[in-house]
Amino acid sequence: MKTIPSPAKTPNRRSKNHRSQTLPAHGNGHGSPGNGHGPRSEVVAWLSRPKHNLIAGRWVPSIAGNLFDVLNPADASVLCRVPEGRAEDVDRAVRAARQAFESGPWRRMTPSERGKLLWRVGDLLLKHADEFAELESLDNGKPKAVARVADVPLAADLFHYMAGWATKVEGNTIPISVPYAPGARFHAFTLREPVGVVGQIIPWNFPLLMAAWKLGPALTTGNCVVLKPAEQTPLSALRLGELLPEAGIPEGVVNIVTGFGETAGAALAAHPGVDKLAFTGSTEVGRAIVRAAAGNLKKVSLELGGKSPNIVFKDAGDLEVAISGAANAIFFNHGQCCCAGSRLLVEREIFDDVVAGVAERAKKIKLGPGLSEETQMGPLVSEEQLARVTHFLDQGKADGACYVTGGGRVGDRGYFIQPTVIKNVRPEMSIVRDEIFGPVVVAEPFSGVEDLLSRANATEYGLAAGIWTRDVSKAHRVAAELRAGTVWINCYNVFDAALPFGGYKQSGWGREMGHEVLEHYSETKAVVIGL
Ligand code: NAI
Ligand code: MG
Repeated sequence: MKTIPSPAKTPNRRSKNHRSQTLPAHGNGHGSPGNGHGPRSEVVAWLSRPKHNLIAGRWVPSIAGNLFDVLNPADASVLCRVPEGRAEDVDRAVRAARQAFESGPWRRMTPSERGKLLWRVGDLLLKHADEFAELESLDNGKPKAVARVADVPLAADLFHYMAGWATKVEGNTIPISVPYAPGARFHAFTLREPVGVVGQIIPWNFPLLMAAWKLGPALTTGNCVVLKPAEQTPLSALRLGELLPEAGIPEGVVNIVTGFGETAGAALAAHPGVDKLAFTGSTEVGRAIVRAAAGNLKKVSLELGGKSPNIVFKDAGDLEVAISGAANAIFFNHGQCCCAGSRLLVEREIFDDVVAGVAERAKKIKLGPGLSEETQMGPLVSEEQLARVTHFLDQGKADGACYVTGGGRVGDRGYFIQPTVIKNVRPEMSIVRDEIFGPVVVAEPFSGVEDLLSRANATEYGLAAGIWTRDVSKAHRVAAELRAGTVWINCYNVFDAALPFGGYKQSGWGREMGHEVLEHYSETKAVVIGL
């Protein structure tokens, strides 16, 4: 079990790797101590090579030949250009996946062989961990040290975990009675078979890890995939695509099309040749995906937004631990987590102390470009997200909330936002109701368990929740009453490939990871033999 490191605890490692300065320096314009480190030479070389889509085992340009810029959010410089895949490219990829599924070696492979190949994907990610961490940091903005200890090893572990399932997805033998056939005897059993061609649309907050969460279960159960990475962060998925043949994954089993949501994403969601669509992203697009999927009634799984309550009781014990936990819950990954603890609910007697403590930690977080070793929090992923978060912050001010710390942009270069703690909020404010997806927490006091539960569950979302208390009975009672897919008690942001993750209410359909995810990637076939 792993606890994701808090920004404040990020290891401050000195890399011995050679650093080239050929890409623009990643200095920052807001006075925090960015050192302008450049990426390592193999990353620079990789970025300079032309980028293509992966279709039927070959790297190909988009049919129309268009490209779009991939930006470094720390300074808005162009890292490289990737193909702008559109409906016709998605169609080509879906056909390739179908071909690989129907007539390629993937289906004929033994489960043991398939598992070994997936294990190798995990090994290759670890072998290239430093490179992936830098790529992820450049593309998404997150500190490289965080990507190195969290995103990359978690992605590798997901493949390793899922590799083990290849040989363990089993059916049952079922004693049946068949009341209308007295005296007849049957042998009945179930088979678990792949769904077929799976479309996967992923977001930009954990680009590599989301690719792993999606690919791992789809592949271990024998499906073929078309993956569309987020337009903001397509790079680690493309690099991962290069490792797949090295691991031995046959051609056409994984196809990767880069492009925008409204074009490539929508085409994949609507494509009649796709049997199942898996999506992680906004609740709004989740709804659009469900509508698009209705055409051929493809199966859909969704991992959507959240507005997760993180609850601190006055009997939390060591308050410093709870305060660090609360800061980590919202500020990890710059608040760009679907499960971010974005509503801090604190028992009234300790409200002022906890809010002041979280605000103190917020003020100390060092902002800077992800590649700088001092950086604890990078920029938001894009100008669009900066605009979205600052809009929420402005709205909260207009609504009369009290900003204990933060509240705006930092500098005018890159998409940096101040870690922000807000109090004196009312339930109808948009900063309380809506997912902000930035380093912004709203704090509310509560009095007793009844009051707490009505506040905690007063949201259309139900992804996660945190509870800080030393009263074990109360912890269990509250955990049982919370309408959320994950409840962390005296911890937060603990993820593991073996733990199912997903949402109640409008936070999604189905679960990622664990053995539960395998349900979404396999069909059950009942076979009955008359004896
Ligand atoms: P989004 O939902 O638009 O993007 C996620 C993915 O969906 C991307 O790959 C995108 O290309 C694709 N997409 C967009 N429109 C599509 C469509 N019509 N059909 C098919 N695919 C489509 O999220 P966006 O705009 O990047 O962020 C907006 C908000 O969404 C964030 O502020 C945050 O609240 C939420 N979000 C939640 C995430 C989560 O982990 N649950 C991840 C990313 C965003
Ligand atoms: Mg969008």
